[in-house]
Formats: sequence, structure tokens, C-alpha cells
Amino acid sequence: MKIDLSFSTGQFDELQLRDKHVVVLDVLRASSTITVALNNGAREIIPVASIESAVKISGSLFGEVTLRGGERNGKIIEGFNLGNSPLEYNEAAVKGKSIIYCTTNGSVAMAKSRYARTLVVGSFLNLTTVVEYIRSENKDFMFICAGRLNSIGNFSLEDAVCAGMMIHKLMKTESLELNLSDSAKAAQALYRSFGRSILKMLKSSEHGKFLIDIGFADDLKICAAVDSVPVLPVQIENKIKLKKEEPPVVPA
Ligand code: MLT
Repeated sequence: MKIDLSFSTGQFDELQLRDKHVVVLDVLRASSTITVALNNGAREIIPVASIESAVKISGSLFGEVTLRGGERNGKIIEGFNLGNSPLEYNEAAVKGKSIIYCTTNGSVAMAKSRYARTLVVGSFLNLTTVVEYIRSENKDFMFICAGRLNSIGNFSLEDAVCAGMMIHKLMKTESLELNLSDSAKAAQALYRSFGRSILKMLKSSEHGKFLIDIGFADDLKICAAVDSVPVLPVQIENKIKLKKEEPPVVPA
């Protein structure tokens, strides 16, 4: 089983991911927020790459069962119902809603992965659930870190450490024969260096510091809580939904 990893989405276009099995990570905060929203009863999340697409897709449905959520510079987009703090995506706000979702990096990474055969949304919140899914699939997987578009290098420490922690857990599975790419090995090494305290690592990261500065320190605590929301958001027909348990096969 080959495990590959991209530290940002800048390096490829969507056709290169066609038919691949990918895990998209945007720990601060898109992956974490989507995981919380779906766990709180959101019907589906529709990730888009631009505000224009969000407005176009939501069209006349906007405001009824369809909401717009997302951010620019960490803050709610004008005319949207929700920003990008996981705290906003509580049951009262999202239950039964379809959410057109647009963020600077996370939703772009998901939109770029739309032709993948499998698209899983991963974060610290659902870390073990994602690892168990990859184990059970036993196929080649690629981790896509959303990274940071506005930083040179497009790199974000928190996405790399989260992917590295997943890879580290996978490596402990005796029944799997893993072949790690150089970037996957590098992410695992980053986890070993920075993974002792996830909250501390988030607080020291560039985007973590930015979120603290603009008043979202509590979001970091939520996004650092390993295995606090053990659900599996996956893409089904271009929408992100919770994967349902397969019904057991009953012998005829
Ligand atoms: C993003 O997609 O860049 C992030 O989720 C930004 C944020 O923290 O809201």
C-alpha cells in the first residue's frame, strides 16, 4: 500500500487526482469545522473554490434549507450565514441544512479533489476514524494538506503534523505493508517533533497565531481535541456527507 502526501494544493491540478483515494486536511479550520457541522446534523457540505461559485450555486435556495458558510481572512464573508468557527456550526444552526462552503484553502483543496475516487475529510477530531477507514480499505492513499495560500511555500505545520500522526498510526498496523513517499516520511518526522502537545503546536503555528490575534483562540482548543468527533465525512456526488455504516451482509 503506497502512502503519498502533498504539503499543499498548489502543486497539482484536479485531473491529477482523478480516481485516487485522498484525505484532505485543513486542521485550522475547514476540516475540523466540516466534521463538527456534519456531526451536529448538517445534511451536507458543498465545498466550492470561490465566493462567486458559492453565490451562483446557492441561487434562489439560499436562506431556506441552504446556508452559505466560510471565511476570508478568517472572518465571515459578507452576505453569508456562517463564518468558519466550529463553534458557529452548532445543532441549532445547521441541523438539516445544506451548506455551500467557501474558505481560503480548505474548500479549495476539496474542490480540487472532486474527481478523486475517494475523498475523506480528515482532522485531529476524527483522526483514528480516518486511520481505521484507510486500514480497512487497504488501497493506495494520498494525503492532501490544504496548506496556506498566502504564505510563501504554501505550507502549514498543523496539516503536516496531523497527516504525519495518521501515517504514524498506520505504520503500527502489522497486517499492512506500507510504502511511504519521501513527503509522507517527512510528515511522520514532523509529527514526531511537534506532536507531543497538539494544542501547543497549533498555538505556535502561523495560522494558529493569526486566529488567536483575531479572537478565535477557543477554536484552537476544539481543533486540537484528538478523536473528539469520531465520524467520517466523505464525498458523495460532489457533496461532503457522513459515511453511513454499511448494513451487514445477511447470507441468503
Ligand atoms: C482555510 O480554508 O484557509 C481556513 O479554514 C481558514 C480559517 O481558519 O478559517
